[in-house]
Amino acid sequence: MTFQVTVEPSGRQFPCEADETILAAALRAGVGLPYGCKNGACGSCKGKCISGQVVHGTHQEKTLSAAEEVAGGALFCCATPQSDVVIEAREVQGLDDYPIRKMPSRVAKLEKLSDDVMLVALQLPANERLQYRAGQYIEFLLRDNKRRSYSMANAPHLDEQITLHVRHMPGGLFTDQVFSTLKERDILRFEGPLGTFFLREESDKPIVLLASGTGFAPIKAIIEQAIHIDSNRPMTLYWGGRRPADLYMHALCEEWASKLPHFKYVPVVSNATAEDQWQGRDGFVHQAVIKDLPDLSGYQVYACGAPIVVDSAKRDFVEKCRLPEDEFYADSFTTEADLAKA
Ligand code: FES
Repeated sequence: MTFQVTVEPSGRQFPCEADETILAAALRAGVGLPYGCKNGACGSCKGKCISGQVVHGTHQEKTLSAAEEVAGGALFCCATPQSDVVIEAREVQGLDDYPIRKMPSRVAKLEKLSDDVMLVALQLPANERLQYRAGQYIEFLLRDNKRRSYSMANAPHLDEQITLHVRHMPGGLFTDQVFSTLKERDILRFEGPLGTFFLREESDKPIVLLASGTGFAPIKAIIEQAIHIDSNRPMTLYWGGRRPADLYMHALCEEWASKLPHFKYVPVVSNATAEDQWQGRDGFVHQAVIKDLPDLSGYQVYACGAPIVVDSAKRDFVEKCRLPEDEFYADSFTTEADLAKA
């Protein structure tokens, strides 16, 4: 059975089957609803169902509580329609400029960036390019219909190879493979580009970039893109890790800071030990932002990392620092543990 979905305030309409999610139908119709994880874990696709009925598939309670659902809240990545529906959602322009494709790739390079982070470079088939926006991700298509998501760590103009930063999660389906049996020239299939986390180039607001751990990967792509388009928007990167070694491209960030007059870099470490001899900022990375920039009302924030970091940053930046909620762009990891829960 097919239902009609109407998006407010734009009034755009598209058909949606009773057994498909509203997000999947929107993307197929070229309607750019925001999204990240596609599995009910990140909240990027959250909006409202104004009229009609939807049912939700499995999702995390923290992302959409039962009370929010009763009040009309909806996660479009896991909501299917039961009738014609009118939804309220922000729309992302130009999302269908770069079509989502399934492609094979060959592992071109494996390089350890730290004890538990591997750079994986993928070579695409001859004469093929993946067009994407800096900040987007791909999903590896694994056995048994399993998928794992990784953000491109390079800007799209550096597109001869795609590079990813893969953190080892012991026991993880994919990352165990990356750190043990995966080798150069192996073939990996993926789908992409995905997600609506990317640099909004039309804005001229100063930017705060917030990364934790390998959340640095899409942030690096965004910075490279800003450099590539000669953006002179002030950018401040806050990169947080537990130990200094977690900031596995610290030297590159320092180099940007020394060469680019409008770029600042603030590394933040939360659990340094005496042997680290860490002289820099300590504590939680988002709190360093609050301390330095108590008024974020004129900023855009791009955040990527562990859900606890991204969620705390959004809450505190909006509530304490007057950041407009719609100027907080985020990509929250959905870890193997999250996927098990979702
Ligand atoms: S995209 Fe729907 S919760 Fe992440």
